[in-house]
Amino acid sequence: MIAGNRTINYLRISVTDRCNFRCRYCVPSTPFTVIEHEKIARYEEILRIARLACDLGITKIRITGGEPFVRKNIFSFLEQLCAIERLKDISITTNGSLLNREKIERLIALGIKRLNFSLDTLDPVKFGQITGRDRFHQVWDAIMTSHELGINPVKINAVILRGINDDEIETIAALTLKYPFHIRFIEYMPMGDSAVEKQQQVLSEEIKERIESRFQTLKAVIKDSNDGPAKKFRIEGAKGIVGFITPISSHFCSECNRLRLTSRGTLRPCLLNNYEKDIINPLRNGASDDELKDIILSVLSKKPSFHGLTDSSSIKGAPISHMTSIGG
Ligand code: 5AD
Ligand code: SF4
Repeated sequence: MIAGNRTINYLRISVTDRCNFRCRYCVPSTPFTVIEHEKIARYEEILRIARLACDLGITKIRITGGEPFVRKNIFSFLEQLCAIERLKDISITTNGSLLNREKIERLIALGIKRLNFSLDTLDPVKFGQITGRDRFHQVWDAIMTSHELGINPVKINAVILRGINDDEIETIAALTLKYPFHIRFIEYMPMGDSAVEKQQQVLSEEIKERIESRFQTLKAVIKDSNDGPAKKFRIEGAKGIVGFITPISSHFCSECNRLRLTSRGTLRPCLLNNYEKDIINPLRNGASDDELKDIILSVLSKKPSFHGLTDSSSIKGAPISHMTSIGG
């Protein structure tokens, strides 16, 4: 699928807006409701949309949430997803807290080789403060087990917040000396009404300088064509990679190759833009495959070249939905 000068081959599917964590940068600080069950896209509906998207050229799918593993029967869904022939690459973004050895082995048996974990601190107490849950050890064990069982790469997403975990930048980056992990520092995006102040945002530039001054060298790693938006570097002699995802300081929209399906069954061309199109109701009302494909293509034609979320301003235009409902 082509949008402007980009080939769109990547679909992110949020299978649920629910999460067993309450990360302060992600969930709203005011009371919020989760989406009612009947409004959530059913697995067979998601699978139909995924198959049609693959007919149109999608070759990579990432499963996200909320937390994907809180949804019932996720493994039978993943099994059917993995059976789509044209699909070359399936990966999952997870907080890792519900994964144990047996489940990771099942993922590998299905052919899922890549996992992204969210981990912002190596300190169990701070972990509780950031996520609202005392689950550091489960997450760490899931990361280590994935590594031992051959998940490659194990990616770790870390959001650095001033006054909360900015003292851990170097220690988190140092994990790459010992393990072949891809540690990705993601700039905090002020979305919805999270409890995090915009002033707590630490931009990649500062994080990179801190890592450089501690480890002296940080060499750029050449990206392959399928790479996402992370700018990648290696500390000299390190087994792993340090990456920076910079939605704020340098937007990468013109390179963005992804489309999103939310758990409510809407398609979004962009995470940081409130345009979305309902696909689930047409599907439930009997739309044909061709009609559904037209909906997918029409969303792509709306893919923005810039998201309007910048360093100096907060969000322009309509208020943005919070992350758990879109799927990160
Ligand atoms: N800003 C930046 N990253 C965020 N994530 C969730 N909310 C935000 C936000 N407001 C990250 C999580 C997770 C990934 C899917 O998105 O850390 O790793
Ligand atoms: Fe793509 Fe939107 Fe993110 Fe920009 S903000 S990179 S267009 S998803």
